Amino acid sequence: MPHIKPKATPIFQTSVFTFDDVNELELYFEQPGQRYMYSRYANPNSDELANEVNKLEGGVGAVVTSSGMSAILAAILAVCKAGDHVLCAEEIYGGSSSLLTQELSRIGIEVTYVPSEATYTFDELVQPNTRLFLAETMSNPLLMVFDLKQLAEQTKKHQIKLVIDNTFATPVLTKPLGLGADIVIHSVTKYLSGHSDVTAGVVVCQTEEDLQRVQKVMMTYGLNLSPFESWLAARGLKTLRLRMKQHCSNAQTIAEYLQQHPKVEQVWYPGLPQHPQHELTKNQGKGMFGGMLSFRIKDDTEAVNRFMQGLEQIPFAPSLAGVSTSISYPLGTSHRALSPEQQKKIGITTGVIRLSVGIEEPEELLADLERGLSKV
Ligand SMILES: Cc1ncc(COP(=O)(O)O)c(C=O)c1O
Repeated sequence: MPHIKPKATPIFQTSVFTFDDVNELELYFEQPGQRYMYSRYANPNSDELANEVNKLEGGVGAVVTSSGMSAILAAILAVCKAGDHVLCAEEIYGGSSSLLTQELSRIGIEVTYVPSEATYTFDELVQPNTRLFLAETMSNPLLMVFDLKQLAEQTKKHQIKLVIDNTFATPVLTKPLGLGADIVIHSVTKYLSGHSDVTAGVVVCQTEEDLQRVQKVMMTYGLNLSPFESWLAARGLKTLRLRMKQHCSNAQTIAEYLQQHPKVEQVWYPGLPQHPQHELTKNQGKGMFGGMLSFRIKDDTEAVNRFMQGLEQIPFAPSLAGVSTSISYPLGTSHRALSPEQQKKIGITTGVIRLSVGIEEPEELLADLERGLSKV
């Protein structure tokens, strides 16, 4: 075979690797990281993705998983066992709260939700069996921003792990490990891969001990990511920094436009000076405020439908963070499983629409939003 030196990483689309003999198999165990055996344990494409994300987040290592959900599952199972207790920010992705409330509770891992007003004063909620606090850097969908340094001071005081879902912010804005978090997770499906063509997750650890545990959980539960999805995500990741700049600048333009629009009742975007954590986000996000925003029109399903039908370019697609703009509807999708009381308490009402701002020309997006809003 000729000596091949490709510039781009090839796709190692194989479930298993070969050995010359038993001696070489022994070397696999004796010299970890030097050989591959089985793609559920490790594969060059998933390792490349893990290494690149780890470099961006500044951890000791990362593990890639089949989805953002399996990343959250791996992080929690790495730290908790039956009989343990988890604190979780009340404003969190609906899938994360479903995992805790509906599934992990069945295997004896208990959860208490921390109300946003008690984010930094949750002493009474800590129990002797509390192991971790789960929160998002920027919450989905109403963009509450957490002061990670302050949160980490609290979790350290109680000797519990701080697990941060950094999906909305990305390491371009915020690196939670540098601010005191112990574990960072991402839905790689979103900004890290960036093109709405991959479902993937990642867990980045601050200590070797946590990394080993996450790796073990990923391998044993079979939460691994396929070689092709790893390859696609690693390819998308190369443009993360460039994409984020445009996502953020477009989102700022749109938030300002929506803020003054007579059909819009409220806008949630940390880049607006009125946002309660505007100053915090400016510092914590290196002057960038992200590509996600939410806004409320009339609390009337027909008005929401007319808005969606009036859009010509922007699709209603219940995901986020792709290069092309999309809208989503938290009440009917991501936060559907919450009780009406929980939805109301968080502020997710009939008229709330989430906008994932892409990297198109901002004028195109403003024109389309105007078309939609004119139908409300
Ligand atoms: C903030 C956040 N975390 C985690 C997830 C779950 O990720 P995935 O859909 O890749 O499993 C999502 C999905 O929307 C999300 O928005």
